[in-house]
Amino acid sequence: MEQLLATFIDKFGSHTHAKQYFSPGRINLIGEHTDYNGGHVFPAAITIGTFAVAKPRQDKIIRVYSMNFSDLGILEFTCDEDQKRPDLKWANYVLGMLVSLRKMGFETPHGFDLAIEGNIPNGSGLSSSASLEMLVGVIARDLYHLSLASLDMVKAGKDTENNFIGVNSGIMDQFAIAFGEPDSGIFLDTNTLDYEMVPVVLTGYRIVIMNTNKRRELADSKYNERRRECETALSRLQEVLPIQALGELTIETFEQHTDLIGDETLIKRARHAVSENERTIAAKAALTSGNLEEFGQLLNASHASLKDDYEVTGIELDTLAETAQAQDGVIGARMTGAGFGGCGIAIVETDKVAQVTQAIHDTYLAVVGYEPAFYACNIGSGARVL
Ligand code: GLA
Repeated sequence: MEQLLATFIDKFGSHTHAKQYFSPGRINLIGEHTDYNGGHVFPAAITIGTFAVAKPRQDKIIRVYSMNFSDLGILEFTCDEDQKRPDLKWANYVLGMLVSLRKMGFETPHGFDLAIEGNIPNGSGLSSSASLEMLVGVIARDLYHLSLASLDMVKAGKDTENNFIGVNSGIMDQFAIAFGEPDSGIFLDTNTLDYEMVPVVLTGYRIVIMNTNKRRELADSKYNERRRECETALSRLQEVLPIQALGELTIETFEQHTDLIGDETLIKRARHAVSENERTIAAKAALTSGNLEEFGQLLNASHASLKDDYEVTGIELDTLAETAQAQDGVIGARMTGAGFGGCGIAIVETDKVAQVTQAIHDTYLAVVGYEPAFYACNIGSGARVL
């Protein structure tokens, strides 16, 4: 924060009347690619994220600077612009949030200066973009004195992602980042938006984030493709079944009706959505009753389904998750987030974290040819004014 304040002063002059903000990244314990299928998710905010210093201006100019993209310098636009601009790069997330808030009826009458620095590795699948969106939501709420409920801030973030940036993502990331609490997972029904804060008690174990260090270049286009595949499968099932979403089906009912879908690839995609939703509900129950072994097995099964049925893993994530699963002291491991690179998580016995990560590192280097990274992770609070 000290460095960010110094940067703010360097770029924008005085920081009198400037305020400080933080917005986390997220992991998803389980419930992957279920949020746009009306299923359950079980994410948590983490203690790494995006820091900001922001100060209101009297005019309509918005100036933003990111220490992570210092080569881009200060980017500038106005508080009444409403079109995405390629030259704004990362700042389109800032502009997009303001556009989404205005669409909801909120006013963004003046500009501000904003400096940010994130410690979420870029493209790591830990939701650096949703972190930025919720950061801007909190800043706008504060600077413009908006009576903006957290759920509406979440919806504005999703709107930015879907309609301004062009990724057809679900609501999980923004929800986890806005509603996160220390040491709790958020068990969210994406159909009803009912949610429950569930204590994540992993006595003797730690969550280790494993980064493939592979950039997720294909993520956006493949993501939208998976989503369309699920929608097609759903519409074929709806010819007979009275359902609104794949998340409403049990795996038994689904298996009885696969002939309606009639296409092997689409059946696999939908099977993942349905089975993952059931695993998520079971995992929450296992965690709540302290059955860590079952919780870990569900994580492993989730990865297998994302690999075989949903096909969003790849050699990098498979090597991390499967090598982790084979280690003594690991109760479960899987990819987290959209897939196609990015990060995995493993639940590792606290005393064995060093030896387990070393073993995974060595195998990964031998198989993939470059190094992975590891972060021992804590579950933290949601986006906020500091
Ligand atoms: C990305 C999306 C989320 C969710 C996950 C997959 O993180 O932003 O909405 O769909 O992928 O579970």
